Amino acid sequence: MLDISSLSKIYPNGTHALQDFSLSIARGELVAVIGGSGCGKSTLLRLLSGLEAPTQGEISLEGRRLTEPDPLVNIVFQEPRLFPWLTVADNIGFGLRHLPSSESDEQVSAALEKIGLRGYENRWIKELSGGQAQRVALARALVTKPAVLLADEPFSALDAMTRLELQDHLLDLWRANATTMLLVTHDIEEAAFLADRVVVMRPWPGRIQEVVDVGLPRRRNRMSGELAAVKRRLSGLLAHSLNDSGGTAIG
Ligand SMILES: Nc1ncnc2c1ncn2[C@@H]1O[C@H](COP(=O)(O)OP(=O)(O)OP(=O)(O)O)[C@@H](O)[C@H]1O
Ligand SMILES: [Mg+2]
Repeated sequence: MLDISSLSKIYPNGTHALQDFSLSIARGELVAVIGGSGCGKSTLLRLLSGLEAPTQGEISLEGRRLTEPDPLVNIVFQEPRLFPWLTVADNIGFGLRHLPSSESDEQVSAALEKIGLRGYENRWIKELSGGQAQRVALARALVTKPAVLLADEPFSALDAMTRLELQDHLLDLWRANATTMLLVTHDIEEAAFLADRVVVMRPWPGRIQEVVDVGLPRRRNRMSGELAAVKRRLSGLLAHSLNDSGGTAIG
């Protein structure tokens, strides 16, 4: 269980980026976070990853308090942030350097297979497309089997087709690893399709507006009426949160 309790962040310049955020996330649950630009989504992930310290509140994982970056919590960003001086295989295997090379090679191969990039071991990062690079970043983040994966709009820089493909890869990886996931996205469809629950946030200060239980069985059908109903509900909540807060655009 990932327990987030009354988390708040006020930046030194006085911006109240996150206010009293509390949520308990079950082991292996996939939670999406949506909300307009500036409502504290990235701040939330930075606090959870230990990259930033909260002003108030606590985070604990399986009863253990987290106060700094933890090997069991990994994060992926909108842009892949890979090491350009390493090959694809060495990027994915970076977190496995402590293992005997036969073992790490085996895990890297399995990861490449899962993301559909078998045969790309020796490529350089600059030789990859944006979608391929993001797949490598996901594989790198998951190969160490973190308990928690945080993802900050990991697919938003990709074209629509690649995004759908990566959503499917993400679900495969998530299922295979039983990882607890927190996914920030601007894409209502992505949130409804992927998540067990969707946290809808509102800005000024950033806080929870509502937590929506998606409640649909997996494998979900992107075209189903049930999914459309969830999307309508999320759109309505988002529109409401923006109207109430003076109407900034959904970023
Ligand atoms: N390092 C910082 N110092 C001061 N203010 C910050 C800092 N980082 C973010 N903020 C402010 O905190 C608020 C929340 O920012 P955050 O990046 O968490 O929003 P977000 O929901 O991720 O937005 P977006 O959807 O545009 O990515 C914003 O008002 C932002 O300007
Ligand atoms: Mg952000």
